[in-house]
Amino acid sequence: MKIPKRLQPLLEDGLIDEIICQLKSGKEAQVYMVRCGEVIRCAKVYKEANKRSFKQAVQYQEGRTARNSRRSRAMQKRTSYGQKESEQAWLSAEVDALYQLAAAGVRVPQPYGFVDGVLLMELISGDDGHAAPRLDDLSFSSELALEYHDRLIREIVRMLCSGLVHGDLSEFNVLVDNSGPVVIDLPQAVNAAGNNSAPMMLERDVNNMRDYFGRYAPELLDTAYGKEIWHHYENGTLIPDIQLTGQFEESADAADVDELMEVINDAREEEMERRRRLQEDDED
Ligand SMILES: Nc1ncnc2c1ncn2[C@@H]1O[C@H](COP(=O)(O)OP(=O)(O)OP(=O)(O)O)[C@@H](O)[C@H]1O
Ligand SMILES: [Mg+2]
Repeated sequence: MKIPKRLQPLLEDGLIDEIICQLKSGKEAQVYMVRCGEVIRCAKVYKEANKRSFKQAVQYQEGRTARNSRRSRAMQKRTSYGQKESEQAWLSAEVDALYQLAAAGVRVPQPYGFVDGVLLMELISGDDGHAAPRLDDLSFSSELALEYHDRLIREIVRMLCSGLVHGDLSEFNVLVDNSGPVVIDLPQAVNAAGNNSAPMMLERDVNNMRDYFGRYAPELLDTAYGKEIWHHYENGTLIPDIQLTGQFEESADAADVDELMEVINDAREEEMERRRRLQEDDED
């Protein structure tokens, strides 16, 4: 096939030996199947900043830290140097997330570096060597839907334990190979502790999985894993093999507030009573 311009430098440097085919042109990137020596890998070429869409929205950027302060000051000032640094930080976010999550035991494609705006990674494939299908391409028995839902909830927990929320998890960003689901597409991953939108994004990711698998196993539709997971995260009780129930009583928090209000009211009454008595003593 015709060699895409952006892959030319990698061919010249010998990082890639052959471009086999294009897998898909997504909204944010083009993905190619490439040969590196004896192995077949995947090369993800990000589109130019002005051709990308939502994932670079401000909401996703909050809490991302530049590795040095000169850079982060420049990024805030939006000078052209700053813009270049922002772009670089944006582009390397996916490879950084992949290394971090692979190390945390999450099933993601193994990354093999990031060169000239191109991410090289493991090709997730089936027995036939073709790229693996996405969840959306498949259909499930209710047993398998429950099993995969459970596995993906565990992956989400593992990601959060390592400090990240995917932020765009859906049936389009999970591939399925012989060993089960693999999470992909992470340039927008958000820092759980430093981003105010993180709880909303976590819940949205979880609910996307619930709604997708709920088509095959409707009992999932009543679950509230997102709120339960975030509650544990906030309380510092989230661990990778946590036993979750899928139930979350929002009233549990409301009850705490009621109890607190009662204590405050009691204290206020006591104080009023004390003042009344002091006043009576003065009057005597
Ligand atoms: N490691 C991989 N192994 C096999 N196929 C992959 C891999 N990474 C990506 N793909 C294929 O390429 C498609 C696009 O990849 P990805 O979702 O990362 O890019 P994108 O442009 O951000 O997509 P989107 O359209 O969701 O914005 C995926 O849906 C999948 O079919
Ligand atoms: Mg995608």
